[in-house]
Amino acid sequence: MLLDILQYPDPRLAQPAVALTKVTDDTRALVSDMAETMYEARGVGLAAPQVGRPIRLIVVDASGPDERKDLRVFINPCLTVLDPTQIEDEEGCLSVPFNYRAPVNRAAKVAVDALDLDWNPVRVEAEGLMAVCLQHELDHLEGRVFLAHISRLKRTLFDTRVKKWLRRKNL
Ligand code: NI
Repeated sequence: MLLDILQYPDPRLAQPAVALTKVTDDTRALVSDMAETMYEARGVGLAAPQVGRPIRLIVVDASGPDERKDLRVFINPCLTVLDPTQIEDEEGCLSVPFNYRAPVNRAAKVAVDALDLDWNPVRVEAEGLMAVCLQHELDHLEGRVFLAHISRLKRTLFDTRVKKWLRRKNL
């Protein structure tokens, strides 16, 4: 089932998510729906708060919506920076309108420790797109979208554009 993806500046995107205490049938159904929604929207990652569920759960597939061969589920993920060298890369977000993209600095190499759907511990070490993606999705669990990392000027211009768009939409 396709889920609605919340759009910035929805206040629910700014709220920290809470840890899961167990996996239920509902969790499994949610993961399946989140993966379907992510692929359909042509994204490489989706965090549960983006679909209105304030829990610490993300799905990621860095192989992309065409390949769909590397779907990973991370429950209660914890991020460690392995190489803090800042790498600049362009990011967008399924929750940020206009397909807006901007350069963001992220750590070059990270590790994520989490639980999978069988409540087994998983650890990944990642560089490149996967490292960007994990840092971006983990931010969502803290109530942050990538706009938190762009310059104040860009942010102001973007927020003005969004406000105008919302005003027009609500006329
Ligand atoms: Ni995002």
